Amino acid sequence: MPRGIFITFEGLDGSGKTTQIKRLAAWMQKRGLDPVVTRQPGGTATGERIRTLLLESSSSQIASMTELALMFADRAQAVGEVINPALAAGKVVLCDRFTDSTEAYQGGGRELGSELVLALHQIVCGDLQPDLTLLLLPPLKASLARARHRNERAAEQTGKDENRFEQEQDAFYSRVWNKYRAIGSRESERVVLIEGNLNIDEVCEQVVKAVSERLVLREAPSSNLPNGLEGL
Ligand code: TYD
Repeated sequence: MPRGIFITFEGLDGSGKTTQIKRLAAWMQKRGLDPVVTRQPGGTATGERIRTLLLESSSSQIASMTELALMFADRAQAVGEVINPALAAGKVVLCDRFTDSTEAYQGGGRELGSELVLALHQIVCGDLQPDLTLLLLPPLKASLARARHRNERAAEQTGKDENRFEQEQDAFYSRVWNKYRAIGSRESERVVLIEGNLNIDEVCEQVVKAVSERLVLREAPSSNLPNGLEGL
């Protein structure tokens, strides 16, 4: 059984990742692929508990190192329980955030540095790397305004509070943004950068184009080969 394909989505809060993952999963399903969709933090029962701890505003006392360790605790669980088994079974895995988020937010935003994050990745995940990363970077201000608005609305409607990161200052997000750009340049083979003020359909087109090229390169079974951009 050939190994599956591991695709990650990255970007600032409010960059539209979640919508794009849903669209891509639907596009794949139409073509007979049955992708496993997951997210970090979260995606396993243990991970969802870690997520609550990390994202609730009331957790504001969490030290940066604790935050970093919890992100990798979550990832260890997800890799062992979801990602590696799915890849071993030949599936496509679509993951909302992975280690690039940790490098951007904890390495850049919290200023813990890339080296530490990459060393921890090696310890926790070994050689596991995404085959393709879609990095969505719409203009910083627009994406933050969207994330803050969305989370306030979600808190009102569901009582679920996942606002801790959105309460960070703009300087924090500028560092995250810069680190994402640095990762994009350093890993230009793996990371496809989708930036600018694009609408949902325009981003989706770029996502599908990048994924189609990768799937063809990996020689998926011919019956499953995506053909063109129709059906978006
Ligand atoms: P997510 O739910 O994907 O946020 P959004 O839908 O707004 O993009 O992620 C939750 C938050 O966790 C987000 O602010 C980024 C942060 N995060 C890190 O700081 N480090 C990490 O390693 C990961 C995976 C997420």
